Amino acid sequence: MSSPHESLLQVENLEVLIPRPSANGKSIENLRAIDGISLSLRAGRTLGLVGESGSGKSLTALSIMGLLPPPAHITSGRVVLEGRDITALGDRQRAKLRGDRVGMVFQEPMTALNPVKSIGDQVSETLILHRGVRRKEAWDHAENMLARVGIPGTKARMRHYPHQLSGGMRQRVLIAMALICHPPLLIADEPTTALDVTVQAQILDLLMEMQEEMGMAIMFISHNLAVISEIADEVAVLYAGRVVEKGPAKALFKDPRHPYTQALLATIPKLAGRERAREARLLSIPGRVPVITQEERRCRFMERCPLAGPVCTFIDPELQEVGPNHKVACAKIDP
Ligand SMILES: Nc1ncnc2c1ncn2[C@@H]1O[C@H](COP(=O)(O)OP(=O)(O)O)[C@@H](O)[C@H]1O
Ligand code: SF4
Ligand SMILES: [Mg+2]
Repeated sequence: MSSPHESLLQVENLEVLIPRPSANGKSIENLRAIDGISLSLRAGRTLGLVGESGSGKSLTALSIMGLLPPPAHITSGRVVLEGRDITALGDRQRAKLRGDRVGMVFQEPMTALNPVKSIGDQVSETLILHRGVRRKEAWDHAENMLARVGIPGTKARMRHYPHQLSGGMRQRVLIAMALICHPPLLIADEPTTALDVTVQAQILDLLMEMQEEMGMAIMFISHNLAVISEIADEVAVLYAGRVVEKGPAKALFKDPRHPYTQALLATIPKLAGRERAREARLLSIPGRVPVITQEERRCRFMERCPLAGPVCTFIDPELQEVGPNHKVACAKIDP
């Protein structure tokens, strides 16, 4: 086990390929969905993972949890959690980690909950499964946990079914389920995206409160840099399966160096106050994230980059340090 000062989670050079039929249907090509991503997260801290849809955020999270949907698979790299390479574990051992060492919250709580099981049964199940706690005791813990995540009328709610709850309440239930075993890591993949703005703000506040109370690290995934800016200590910006910029949130927001990070920041409407920024719709960057199927020696952001020049056509930029722990992958950046 690692000490609290060391990295709790390290993703090292992770590569995930997805085989699929080529355009002419005559052969198989590999979509390079995650192409050499490295990340690290210390105990009790929050890492924000940001990028447009299709940049590889969810597949990164699913790789960590051992839940990649076939035929997607890890072809190289490691995921080290609490000092253990979890990519080397078998399916059963990895399943044991989920809920116990890693809690998960997704965008759409309804699909993550079982529609025919009561809330009480679902929240207590994790404890019964991982801790061997007896049903009655697990039920009491679950009731307590629901109260802690701000669900009123807990006793009655325990006997309710998911469809009887609002979207925000269902997300609170998922957070209770994810945290009931006190995992050192919570992965939240777009947990507020499907909710309306007021509820979104409440769920963000709840995650921060729970972190203060329980001390878990959070990997918080969002396509919205405004949301990330509210919660993250560290930020990694993903583009087409690569990290293009990462660093302490303060440095990255004050001095974003990659043209993609700058473009993402420009999508946040400049309104007074954080609440207003959350309310406004994000603007979009013209163009879309390219699909990469082979090793390319050029910058993946080239087609959309306002600074692109000849050098960008033959260099696939590596991350380089531009400040303390602040790294950028752009051929035109001088360290
Ligand atoms: N089950 C799948 N089958 C085929 N391609 C997939 C699958 N899941 C994701 N992808 C592809 O992998 C890339 C990254 O996806 P994802 O990690 O879901 O992105 P994000 O969460 O950042 O929106 C995308 O190009 C997406 O189309
Ligand atoms: S390498 Fe070139 S194309 Fe890529 S982000 Fe930097 S300036 Fe833009
Ligand atoms: Mg996603």
